[in-house]
Amino acid sequence: KPIVLSGAQPSGQLTIGNYLGALRQWDKMQDDYNCLYCIVDLHAITVRQEPAALRSASLDSLALYLACGIDPQRSAVFMQSHVPEHSQLAWVLNCYTQFGELSRMTQFKDKSERHNNNVNAGLFTYPVLMAADILLYQANQVPVGHDQKQHLELARDVASRFNAIHGDVFTVPEPFIPQVAARVMSLQEPTKKMSKSDENPWNFVGLLEDPKMISKKFKKAITDSEDPPRVYFDQDNKPGVANLLNILSGVTGNDVEALVAEYEGKMYGHLKTDVADAVIALLEPVQQKFTEIRADHTLMQQVLRAGAAKAREHAAKTLQQVNDAVGFVAP
Ligand code: TYM
Repeated sequence: KPIVLSGAQPSGQLTIGNYLGALRQWDKMQDDYNCLYCIVDLHAITVRQEPAALRSASLDSLALYLACGIDPQRSAVFMQSHVPEHSQLAWVLNCYTQFGELSRMTQFKDKSERHNNNVNAGLFTYPVLMAADILLYQANQVPVGHDQKQHLELARDVASRFNAIHGDVFTVPEPFIPQVAARVMSLQEPTKKMSKSDENPWNFVGLLEDPKMISKKFKKAITDSEDPPRVYFDQDNKPGVANLLNILSGVTGNDVEALVAEYEGKMYGHLKTDVADAVIALLEPVQQKFTEIRADHTLMQQVLRAGAAKAREHAAKTLQQVNDAVGFVAP
C-alpha cells in the first residue's frame, strides 16, 4: 500500500478548518493507504507555548484524531517528539535547503510579522522539519489544506535535490488537497484563513465547542451588505457568504451550486442557521467519543507507544540510508 503521512500542530484546539481541510481526508485514506498521523509538537514550539497548555493540547489532539475516525489498529498515531529521527533528519535537510528558499515561505513572512518579538531560527526552518516528517516515511501522499501547499513544494524540491546528489534515497511526495473546503476562512475576517491560534475566538470554531456557542459564532459571522441580500458564490466580492457555502458543502457533501439553488429568495440568516446546525450535527458524535477517549489514559498511552514504535521502525531505516548517503561513518 502507498504511504500517507500528515500532522497538525497542538498549538490550540483543532478547528473545523483542520477537520475539513485535513482530518476528514485522513480518516478516508486509511482504507487504501498505510497511514501515519503525527501530532507535531516540535513545530508547535516555534511559537511560545505555555508548557501545561502544550501538554494538554497535545493529548486533546490525540483524542480528537481518534474521535474523528483515525483507527490506531490500522494507522500509526504518535507524537513527533517521541520519534527523535524527525529532528535528526531535519538537521541533515537543513544543509540541503537554501536560506533564500526559506525566506520566500509566505507562512514564515506572515508569522514573523505577527510574532515579531520571537522570530526564532526554528520558525525559519520550520518547513525543513516538515519536509523531514514526510520524507522520513517515504510518504507518497500528504493530505493537507491549501495553506500547506507551499511547504509541500519545498519538501518536494529538497527531496529531488538530495536525490540528484546522492541517488534515489527519498520518495518525492504528492500533496493531497481536497476539492471542497481546502481553505476555510475566518468567520469575522473572511479574507484570512481560519486559524486555531487566532487570538479572537469569534474567528474560528473549535471541534470541542459547545453547540450553543457554535450557533452564536455562525450567527455573528460577517457576510456583506448587498441589498437585497442574495446567497450565491462569489469569492472576491462576497467572501463571507462564500465561506459559509464552502463549510456547508464540506460538511454535507452537497456541491456549492446545488446549495445556492436552495437559498434562492432566502436571507443570510437561513444559511447561517443551516451551517451551524450541520456543523453541530457533525461534531456531536465526535465530541462524545472525545470525552470517552480523553478520560482513558491507559488507552491513550498504549496508542502513543504503539504508534511511536511503528513509526520509528520506518524512520530508522530511512535515516540510516540518509546517513550512509551523506558519508557518515556507521556506528
Ligand atoms: P496546522 O496545524 O496549521 O493544520 C493542520 C492541517 O489542517 C489544515 N488547515 C486548514 N484547512 C482548511 N482550512 C483552514 N482554515 C485550515 N487551517 C489548517 C492544514 O493545511 C493542515 O493540513 N505545518 C503543518 C503541520 C505539519 C504537517 C507536517 C502537515 C507538520 N509536519 C507533515 C503535513 C505533513 C501545520 O501547521 O498544520
